[in-house]
Amino acid sequence: MAKMTLPAHIKLVEVGPRDGLQNESQSVPTHIKIELIDRLTAAGLPVIEAGSFVSPKWVPQLQDTAEVLAGIQRSADVRYPVLVPNMKGFEHALAAGAREIAVFGAASETFSRKNIDCSIDESLKRFGAVCDAARNNNIAVRGYISCVLGCPYEGDIAPAVVARVAERLQEMGCYEISLGDTIGVGTPAKTQALVETVAERVPVEVLAAHFHDTYGQALANLITVLPLGIATIDCSVSGLGGCPYADGATGNVATEDVLYMLNGLGIDTGVDMDALLDASCFIADALHRKPASKVARALLQSGHESHTRELRR
Ligand code: HMG
Ligand code: MG
Repeated sequence: MAKMTLPAHIKLVEVGPRDGLQNESQSVPTHIKIELIDRLTAAGLPVIEAGSFVSPKWVPQLQDTAEVLAGIQRSADVRYPVLVPNMKGFEHALAAGAREIAVFGAASETFSRKNIDCSIDESLKRFGAVCDAARNNNIAVRGYISCVLGCPYEGDIAPAVVARVAERLQEMGCYEISLGDTIGVGTPAKTQALVETVAERVPVEVLAAHFHDTYGQALANLITVLPLGIATIDCSVSGLGGCPYADGATGNVATEDVLYMLNGLGIDTGVDMDALLDASCFIADALHRKPASKVARALLQSGHESHTRELRR
């Protein structure tokens, strides 16, 4: 392999309690969500997406986000953002004590309409109002862009469109822009070209990689973009997830799989694999299945310490 310059530290953004659980057909009790987040905090994740304030008619799975925020043991070192699509969601997030939010747009018109019922331009207007209100309340805002490497309705998406949306999100005050491969169709060369194009408009340091692993390409795509300067990775414990408005989208790349790769590369994350595996087993047990993460399965197979702890409970 050609010599790569990799970041010494990578920030992992844990999205399982939001991106994962929003797509669960089983209803997950509030106390399980709270315990999952507390275990993820104990594992050292620096950012844990705790839920969303969207229409309960559209995503009933996360309608208890206010109770979740009220119930978790917040660590001073950890941020617990929530998704907000409009001013109504912002008001709810503020009332629930959220200190950080994320707005979520798309690079595909059709996906934007299916997901948030408006055009890209209209969504950016709404997000602008949310960003202004957030600034007045000292609340940090992250921006998501869906379908950056392909759309379930429109197919290919031009990187230039993603770059324009990214630029608008940054201009309105988003401190970080997360590039969502919502349906996991990206491959390494395409992903590299995307990041290079977006980085012409927005500094690469503010970009995050949010790759779903539907086609098993997420780790390959990640290793392609790390040398380009991306140092923030979104991932989901136990490989939970998908998107209710993108048929066939499976989970985000699993946090355990990303951590194993980064540990092997000597990249610091501050996350403890034993404690992460513990959280992964906890939520998989609650959902009556095995973790979807390959690394979790392999570690469990080899009788890893955490598993032994889990069995002792
Ligand atoms: P709409 O139906 O166009 O909204 O939905 P509306 O303004 O016409 O209002 C309709 C009803 O919803 C009204 O209630 C509003 O009060 C209520 P009613 O009068 O009928 O009783 N409402 C709300 N209630 C609670 N919270 C709110 C809110 N806003 C309106 N914030 C809306 C528009 C955006 C609300 C809707 O489309 C929605 O909630 N969409 C959410 C979709 C979603 O959560 N998708 C998953 C997250 S995105 C994702 O997973 C991708 C990502 O992971 C990156 C990637 O992988 O690509 C981030
Ligand atoms: Mg997602």
